Order: sequence, then structure tokens, then C-alpha cells
Amino acid sequence: MGGLLSVDAGVFEQWVQRSLCSYEESLDAWVPESAPAGLGVAMRYAVLEGGKRLRPLLVLAACDAVQGESEAAMRAACAVELIHAYSLVHDDMPCMDNDVLRRGKPTVHVAFGEAQAMLAGDAMQALAFEVLTPDSGVAPALQARLCALLARASGHAGMAGGQAIDLASIGKALDEAELRDMHRRKTGVLLQASVLMGAACGTTTPAAWDGLSKYGAAIGLAFQVVDDILDVTQDSEVLGKTAGKDQDANKPTYVSVLGLEAARRYADKLRDEAHQALIASGLPNTAWLSLLADKVVERDN
Ligand code: IPE
Ligand code: IPE
Ligand code: MG
Ligand code: MG
Ligand code: MG
Repeated sequence: MGGLLSVDAGVFEQWVQRSLCSYEESLDAWVPESAPAGLGVAMRYAVLEGGKRLRPLLVLAACDAVQGESEAAMRAACAVELIHAYSLVHDDMPCMDNDVLRRGKPTVHVAFGEAQAMLAGDAMQALAFEVLTPDSGVAPALQARLCALLARASGHAGMAGGQAIDLASIGKALDEAELRDMHRRKTGVLLQASVLMGAACGTTTPAAWDGLSKYGAAIGLAFQVVDDILDVTQDSEVLGKTAGKDQDANKPTYVSVLGLEAARRYADKLRDEAHQALIASGLPNTAWLSLLADKVVERDN
């Protein structure tokens, strides 16, 4: 779709494994165990173990599609996962979703205490931007572009803003437009930024950039729709986090607003939109992105 018409699933899996292997090596090197007073241990616990690594894979696949610079893309892949992992640490804290299980382990505040969890999140956020701004190896203009894309997606207009809406919506009946806006902000824009950061590592035509941006928006929203679905259909062991939390916490979700079947149909529709956007991008080499869109919708955790 949008590139090679059919790619063997095994070839895709090999690409995933190869990419994640170098990615884990880079991330491991950039998260310092030596940070003071146990902070480094908490940071490494939060980001190095577990997680599907979908955002880094999107960065690397988008970079691949535009034949971009791999050093910059690897830094972007690590930076976006640092922001994502920090958002999870804070999301799980008692003042937010109050969760005790994440990535199959006790949450960071359970393992290290609330203050350390808050500081680990703070430090991971700063580290993300440090990783994006090396003294050499990535052109200054590209560094600035990557920082801008990540900052906009993480801050008040994106993830943090979406999380604020999420907490303000507990017990409220949101309409579909309000729900979509919340989900786009809290989850969608960081996934979209992952795609665009990968694309920024190469050169793109306006049509290619627009296509990748639409692809990112579609899978970004689909990702949170599926997260809402899995919260009611999957068990905690498979999820690696507590199932059934949304209803317990009285959160409006795609399942509570549309119902399970309509939520599933909506996720499928967004996947189709993502595939269409890849075709419209005119890029010849989007097989990995196309298969990652399938993964977003078909995953079981
Ligand atoms: C969970 O994200 C939080 C949401 C944004 C829905 P993931 O499902 O990608 O979590 P990990 O990284 O695999 O643990
Ligand atoms: C989290 O959404 C979005 C973030 C920005 C972390 P959820 O609260 O639904 O994520 P999970 O289900 O705890 O992973
Ligand atoms: Mg939450
Ligand atoms: Mg949560
Ligand atoms: Mg959830």
C-alpha cells in the first residue's frame, strides 16, 4: 500500500527487530544511571524496559520513506520515547490516573515514591531535548526543527493540554467532537509528531509532507481509540497495565461514547484514511508505515 504492494510479514518483522536493536542501544547509552540520588535508576526503569516502541518505529519508518539522515532520526526516535515514557510516569501518579501497573511492572511512583516519579518525568522531558541537540552530527537547523515539532506536540496545545482535558472530563458526557479533540491532543499529536520528525530528517515535497501529516493524524487518533477498546476487551496481564480502568474512573472514551462495535469500525476507518494518505503522499517507499498503521489497529496490547 502506498509503496511496495505486498511485503512479506517476515521481512517487516526483520526490519522492526533490526531497528529496535540499534534504537535500544542508543537509548541505553543516553539515559545515565549515574544521575544523582537514584534518579537515573528511576529514569532507566521508566524508559528502558518494556513498551511497544511504536513511536520510535514511526520515526525510523518515516525517515526511511524519505531516505533521511539516520543519526538525526535515531536521536528523534529516542527523544520521542523519552517524552512518551515521562507522560506515562506522570499519567500513572495518584494525582492523575492512580495506576499501580505499567509495562508489566509496578509503576514508577510505586517502585520509587511519588517525588522521585515526578522528578524522573521532569528529567526525561529535559533529556529528550538534550538528545536532540548534540554538539555535532546533526545540522543546527534540523535540530531546531526537531525540537519545535516535539515541543509543540508535548506541551499545552498537545499532550499536556490533552491530559488536562482528560482530568477535567471525569464524569462528564463529552460529545464526539470533544472526545476527538481530547484524544488527538493527549495521544494523537505525539504519534503524528513521531512521523513528522522522521520526515524532517530528509527532504520532502509539500504533497509528501501533507500525506505523512494526514497519515500521522489518522493513526494517532486510531491509537487512542484502540487503547479505549483494549481497556474493556483485554486483561491486565496481556496489557501490562490495569484493565477496566476507564469505566472505574468514569472517563469518557470511544467505547462509552460510541459503543464497542462502532469504536472498532471507527478505528478501521482511520486505518483506511492512513493508508489513503500514504498513497496521496506520492512517496515510493511507505511499506513500513503502512504495516505500522495495521499494527496500531490490530494490536492486542
Ligand atoms: C499508552 O501508550 C498510553 C497512550 C498514549 C494510550 P502505549 O500503548 O504506546 O504504551 P507502551 O509504550 O507500549 O507502554
Ligand atoms: C494516556 O491515556 C495518554 C498519555 C498522554 C499518557 P491513558 O490514561 O488512557 O493511557 P493508559 O491507558 O493509562 O496507558
Ligand atoms: Mg490518563
Ligand atoms: Mg492512564
Ligand atoms: Mg487508556
